Amino acid sequence: MSWGTFTKTKLPIKLISISFKKATQQDLNAILAIEERIFSTPWSQQKLLDSFENSNTHMQLILHNEKIAGYLITLNSLDFSDILTLAITPEFQRQGLGFKLLDDLQQRLKLCNIRTIFLEVRVSNVVAICFYQKYGFKLIDTREKYYSNLEDAKILRLLI
Ligand SMILES: CC(C)(COP(=O)(O)OP(=O)(O)OC[C@H]1O[C@@H](n2cnc3c(N)ncnc32)[C@H](O)[C@@H]1OP(=O)(O)O)[C@@H](O)C(=O)NCCC(=O)NCCS
Repeated sequence: MSWGTFTKTKLPIKLISISFKKATQQDLNAILAIEERIFSTPWSQQKLLDSFENSNTHMQLILHNEKIAGYLITLNSLDFSDILTLAITPEFQRQGLGFKLLDDLQQRLKLCNIRTIFLEVRVSNVVAICFYQKYGFKLIDTREKYYSNLEDAKILRLLI
């Protein structure tokens, strides 16, 4: 290895310490704190509360030793599911937990006979686009000036 080369070492996570849980209202502050830490335009407390009260919205937590390591919020329609947000806290990133949340989502959707997942992602969020494409999502469209700052959105779809 030449001087100046730095390799990020992955910390192995024991799968046995990973679990999933549907969020309750008691988890909202923790989700809000992660939103504010990770996103430049985080969800507001009101938006989280509104989503929580919408019966078609599901907030799934991924826990590591009972601590929240990330979450996935989806909105289900009759025959498809929309990923509204997905986040893994920085200390747990790049250890496969994002993929685990998507695996868990697929399992839950199959039980409701939902076979299509959509999502919108900022064109500038190259990491997320790589992540979703590596999982198997296909780019199907671009929506111009989709976000409040007029940034375009990429629309991705996964058929399961
Ligand atoms: C995008 C995000 C959810 C990925 O979660 P994660 O748990 O770190 O992802 P995984 O460890 O499951 O990664 C799976 C694959 O995705 C790709 N990937 C993930 N993070 C990446 C990165 N920073 N750079 C390049 N590729 C990346 C890699 O191919 C990776 O496989 P590998 O580690 O074997 O190379 C996480 O980075 C995050 O929370 N980002 C901030 C919030 C966000 O942008 N959410 C998405 C928009 S809603």
